[in-house]
Amino acid sequence: MVNASFGTVNVEVEGEAYPVVLAPGFEGLGQAVAAVLPAGRIVVVTNDVVAPLHAAAAEQALRAGGWDPAFVVLPDGERHKNLDIWRDLVGRLLDVPVDRRTPVLALGGGVTGDMVGFAAASVLRGVPFVQVPTTLLAMVDASVGGKVAVNTIQGKNLVGAFWQPRLVYAPFAALETLSDAELRCGLGEVLKHAVLGGEGPFAALEADAPALRNRGSEAVARAVRASVVCKAAVVAADPRELGVRATLNLGHTLAHAIEAVAGYGAIRHGEAVAMGLMAVTKYSEAAGWSHSGLSRRVAGLCVGLGLPARPADDLDRDALVRAVAFDKKRDRATITLVVPAAIGQVVLRNVPLTEVPALVDALFES
Ligand SMILES: NC(=O)c1ccc[n+]([C@@H]2O[C@H](COP(=O)([O-])OP(=O)(O)OC[C@H]3O[C@@H](n4cnc5c(N)ncnc54)[C@H](O)[C@@H]3O)[C@@H](O)[C@H]2O)c1
Ligand SMILES: [Zn+2]
Repeated sequence: MVNASFGTVNVEVEGEAYPVVLAPGFEGLGQAVAAVLPAGRIVVVTNDVVAPLHAAAAEQALRAGGWDPAFVVLPDGERHKNLDIWRDLVGRLLDVPVDRRTPVLALGGGVTGDMVGFAAASVLRGVPFVQVPTTLLAMVDASVGGKVAVNTIQGKNLVGAFWQPRLVYAPFAALETLSDAELRCGLGEVLKHAVLGGEGPFAALEADAPALRNRGSEAVARAVRASVVCKAAVVAADPRELGVRATLNLGHTLAHAIEAVAGYGAIRHGEAVAMGLMAVTKYSEAAGWSHSGLSRRVAGLCVGLGLPARPADDLDRDALVRAVAFDKKRDRATITLVVPAAIGQVVLRNVPLTEVPALVDALFES
């Protein structure tokens, strides 16, 4: 039976459209790339964890579509998303050699996509970029929207570009090798997109939550599609993050603080997003900005997806307050919070820094 959630979502950004193909496996990859770019040489950049799992399937599919793939394998991990590896990658692309029309394909999670996208944006002043996300987080978030970047010692994602892919091809079979922890990481952003997306997507995710926890393929496909549709609409309205795109930061003010205070990696990003989303919803409901009962409803879905609704009691509250107050979105004596007034209705609110302790307290409320 054909799953209605496979297929294509079109993303339109600054007058140019590109397809996000949701596919059961790698089989159609070569043809999908050939549908948007003339077949020939292509450089596949992946990492040393993903390569042994999925490079052979990607290679076979590319060859079947008429492509001649060269492979570059990077070291795995966020700590390698830096300018040293970027310089090395750009050198290896030039050595292939690439010309202005040679596509560069990122095969991997969000780290690979961000790094490879920034290299594709830079080498020869920009070559065609293709994303093949292999984590749930990369499928529902990182591969859509054209933000590509690397980290520096000053912070995360501080050097980068807006460089839209020509195609995103999400092979769901790749998720079979993903750990439950990595899957949960993506579910945090799926939850956020459902709150942003409105009553329909939220209710659909509520119904699918048990199947998603069990990795039911149709439920995963529906969740990825709904997330991509939500993010694509926001990105289309505001490609350069001058306005409404900031709503995608829902839950992230506290999430970034939680990750920093717990130590990066100790609490996974998606879990931190779930906790941050819960806290801002509870805080906003107490302030009378959200419909009453909203936080209970979001908490129900959060738990239903297997995500934590609050951190352990021993997370340092004072350190969280300091971390939120130094969030990069800080504007003098206020922070800008993305607040859900209702499912599908988020607003930006400037909150005085003196309110940050109350916001952090909301994080720990049951
Ligand atoms: N550009 C954006 O808009 C955007 C949005 C959100 C996040 N990001 C970035 O994405 C990154 C996080 O992405 P992530 O969570 O995918 O991290 P990741 O790329 O590090 O992947 C997580 C781990 O899973 C491994 N992996 C990937 N696919 C696998 C598979 N199919 N089976 C088994 N293991 C697999 C990876 O090698 C890695 O070890 C961060 O650097 C973040 O800044 C970017
Ligand atoms: Zn996020």
